[in-house]
Amino acid sequence: MVKIETVGVVGCGLMGSGIAEVIARAGKQVIVREVEESALEAGRKRIVTSLDRAVEREKLAPEERERAWDRIRFTTRLEELADRDLVIEAVIEELAVKNEVFGTLDRLAPEETIFATNTSSLPVTEMASRVQRPDRMVGLHFFNPVPVMKLVELVRTIETSDETYQRVLAFARSLGKEPVSSRDTSGFLVNLLLVPFVLDAIRQVERGMASIEDIDTAMVLGLGHPMGPLTLCDFVGIDTFHRISEIMYEEYREVRYAPPPLLKRMVVMRRYGRKSGRGFYDYTGDEPVPIPI
Ligand SMILES: NC(=O)c1ccc[n+]([C@@H]2O[C@H](COP(=O)([O-])OP(=O)(O)OC[C@H]3O[C@@H](n4cnc5c(N)ncnc54)[C@H](O)[C@@H]3O)[C@@H](O)[C@H]2O)c1
Repeated sequence: MVKIETVGVVGCGLMGSGIAEVIARAGKQVIVREVEESALEAGRKRIVTSLDRAVEREKLAPEERERAWDRIRFTTRLEELADRDLVIEAVIEELAVKNEVFGTLDRLAPEETIFATNTSSLPVTEMASRVQRPDRMVGLHFFNPVPVMKLVELVRTIETSDETYQRVLAFARSLGKEPVSSRDTSGFLVNLLLVPFVLDAIRQVERGMASIEDIDTAMVLGLGHPMGPLTLCDFVGIDTFHRISEIMYEEYREVRYAPPPLLKRMVVMRRYGRKSGRGFYDYTGDEPVPIPI
């Protein structure tokens, strides 16, 4: 089986930057693409901060940090990703945008290049149906923050070949991740259970059952979760979480996946959570402060 050594990452937001970092830290060459210079600069900064933090916490030797950094190239040109063994797409959760990326790459990349999507909730098959290589398309769903979280969900569609599946499985393991396999069902294994749980927490806030802080504290202390559902929602991104829930609702037509009005209102107000400075909490000071609804 031929090993995957060179990788392209499309999108250098929260996830794309983390994915690029992890690949470089595992000793592989990576090129990451953003739509414009300013987004690329923001992504670059995110990777620098994350690498520095890993060094500070003694998770990464300073020389290793330099070597990893040297393995990452940044570009705004999608063409530069065409010669890779694997391209991982981590752009916004919009099918049309993802299809456009894969459509262009499909024309440029050689036959053997494997395509992977980091989608949280869109059907991988929808993307596979639009390219000439459905057998070389998988879902590779990383978790946030990518350098810290061990899990990846490897999603195979009814068209994914065994060879593609095995090569990507070996690649995920080579990053030090623990892959689990899922069929192509919206939300895969984790979000299928997590999304209704977080949406119920938002509904509790809407109904005024308890404060944001108390709901989070209850889940941290009562269930031993590392963070409460509202903090988690801010961490994922209110806009991304809203999109995921819309897509899952559309797929399953079950109310438990429907985005509560409060979530929609927060998106309209661009309260995207940690990344924009305000969500359920205000992150502009030293400590997050809940914003009463
Ligand atoms: N946020 C999470 O916790 C999380 C976890 C797992 C998976 N995901 C999935 O990962 C994907 C990315 O999410 P995110 O949280 O990183 O979002 P994000 O908004 O932080 O980043 C998305 C980035 O994609 C860029 N982009 C848009 N179109 C592009 C294009 N054509 N080419 C290159 N870049 C483009 C945007 O400029 C932006 O920087 C989504 O599919 C999301 O569902 C998110």
